[in-house]
Amino acid sequence: MKEQATVFVAGATGNLGGKIVSGLLDRGETVRALVRPGIDEEKRTALDALRNKGLQVVEGDITDSPSELAATLEGAHTVISAVQGGPDLLVDGQVNLLRAAEEAGCSRFVPSDFAIDMTRLDDGDNVMLDWRRQAARVFEGSSLDVLSVLNGAFVEVMTGFMDLVDWSADTVSYWGDPDQPMDLTTIRDTAAYTVAAALDPALSGGGTVRFAGEVLSVRQFHEAVERGTGRKFTLRALGTADDLRAEIERRAARARSPFEYVALQYQWCMVTGKGKFETLDNGRYPWIKATSVEEFVRSLPG
Ligand SMILES: NC(=O)c1ccc[n+]([C@@H]2O[C@H](COP(=O)([O-])OP(=O)(O)OC[C@H]3O[C@@H](n4cnc5c(N)ncnc54)[C@H](OP(=O)(O)O)[C@@H]3O)[C@@H](O)[C@H]2O)c1
Repeated sequence: MKEQATVFVAGATGNLGGKIVSGLLDRGETVRALVRPGIDEEKRTALDALRNKGLQVVEGDITDSPSELAATLEGAHTVISAVQGGPDLLVDGQVNLLRAAEEAGCSRFVPSDFAIDMTRLDDGDNVMLDWRRQAARVFEGSSLDVLSVLNGAFVEVMTGFMDLVDWSADTVSYWGDPDQPMDLTTIRDTAAYTVAAALDPALSGGGTVRFAGEVLSVRQFHEAVERGTGRKFTLRALGTADDLRAEIERRAARARSPFEYVALQYQWCMVTGKGKFETLDNGRYPWIKATSVEEFVRSLPG
């Protein structure tokens, strides 16, 4: 019987997907990436570096027909999705990719979840996680092992996109309870945990695995930022969790796209503890030594 040894990755030109590919190649896996045509120069250069490490590249789009996609999946046992986008991609596109994986005889599918504990949320709490749960309901009927990898919030997002840290004003702002623990993981560590879980035969049957590089409250996060920079930051309260919910509703009412307020929805899910992991699976892979927020901040340029 022909051995199916390839790991297939969609989203390899993305922040997380590129690191997943790199981690798989470092483990000696045969890796094939689905890449959309027409990527820019910077992504092409990063992809070429992965090609030099052995990455196979096929052109395509997860919204292509399942039979077209199935041809690109030939010989793959595991499919990892690290795509990012709207419901057309996260629901329809990923279901399409799953159908193609079924047609190609793959065994395992890792959807692009990589979030706080979306299994504990209700519809409306976070639009992007609603889409993932919507896709998960379709995945339930699949013959493949569907393995959801959750990592809390990226440390990169907590120190950047979330707008919690103002690096020029030296402030850390927060909503809600500053002592509520939060699950935080760097992109690199999320990739390492994803690679370990995706290749783990003990996870046959699929399910959900949860990892956190560090669990910190906002107060502890603030202290880690201070230690990492060697500077003083003012901790600034913006309001209660209910005030945050009201702010989300105000913004949603005038938003043209949910992407305009979803960062606040992530914050609400975190500061209320609703998206907090109850258990962690870090112990499955003790060789992964996760980066702390302090170490991460210390490594930032400038
Ligand atoms: N927990 C957190 O704090 C956190 C924060 C950010 C992201 N995430 C999650 O991490 C995952 C990856 O996010 P990211 O930031 O790495 O995303 P990203 O950098 O925006 O990359 C998205 C990838 O998806 C690809 N893609 C988009 N549309 C596609 C299509 N139709 N067919 C095939 N590929 C397509 C993109 O390809 P092109 O290069 O062609 O555009 C790119 O490779 C997502 O699940 C995201 O929600 C989690």
